[in-house]
Amino acid sequence: MPVTVQHCRRWKEEGRPIVVLTAWDFAIAQLLDQAGVDILLVGDSLGMVALGYNTTLPVTLEEMLHHTAAVCRGVQRALVVTDLPFLSYQESPTQAVRSAGRILKETGAQAVKLEGGSPEIVATIAKLTSLGIPVMGHVGLTPQSVHQLGYKQQGKTPEAANRIIQEAIAVAQAGAFAIVLEHIPQDLAATITDKLNIPTIGIGAGHHCNGQVLVTADLLGLTEKQPPFAKRYENLRDKITQATTAFVEDVQQGKFPE
Ligand code: KIV
Repeated sequence: MPVTVQHCRRWKEEGRPIVVLTAWDFAIAQLLDQAGVDILLVGDSLGMVALGYNTTLPVTLEEMLHHTAAVCRGVQRALVVTDLPFLSYQESPTQAVRSAGRILKETGAQAVKLEGGSPEIVATIAKLTSLGIPVMGHVGLTPQSVHQLGYKQQGKTPEAANRIIQEAIAVAQAGAFAIVLEHIPQDLAATITDKLNIPTIGIGAGHHCNGQVLVTADLLGLTEKQPPFAKRYENLRDKITQATTAFVEDVQQGKFPE
């Protein structure tokens, strides 16, 4: 049965962990979906892992539309959520409705994710959800603010922790169906998880969250550098290099085709 946003809230009540991974093309999406991942996030991290940008900031709405459509063609069960890229929603709720509307109308994704918990972003989430567009929030380390925050852990002082708690509560009250907590202390993530009636999806936020997300390229060992909290389950860089080197040698030595 296809996963819906209603499942996510029910799974939190039942204590069933929610499994989330990022996806950026048809082949990866098909494999992850068939392996039982609940939510495929077309994260704007695709700018770094698939497009070679240094940060997520250059990613455009057109790029997110293109990659999301490919992901959706590979998915039968998972819920597909797409990141609204930098400056495709921050100007106004109207701009966010246009961008999110294009993602839902043109790709087949069922929800969007956007970063932050300021009053402006909360108003935008309220506008989107009032129109029936499901929204996943994202607080803590928000990579679109890298030039202000860096990539370091957030919420370490009592004041900073309290600000993130208030942001998470406001995002949930605005109607988000789930919220990503990125790179914050695990006790803070536990407090937020207890306070909210929507699921928290952690990345570098400890094991008290209702679900976990990783960037798939980190999990598969496709990236050269990874954040400290990522876990590498495979080393595809080495495997791809070995396979490619074998092909190069076979062709050069006349062994392929046999
Ligand atoms: O863009 C992304 O991949 C994300 C995850 C790190 C949550 O936002």
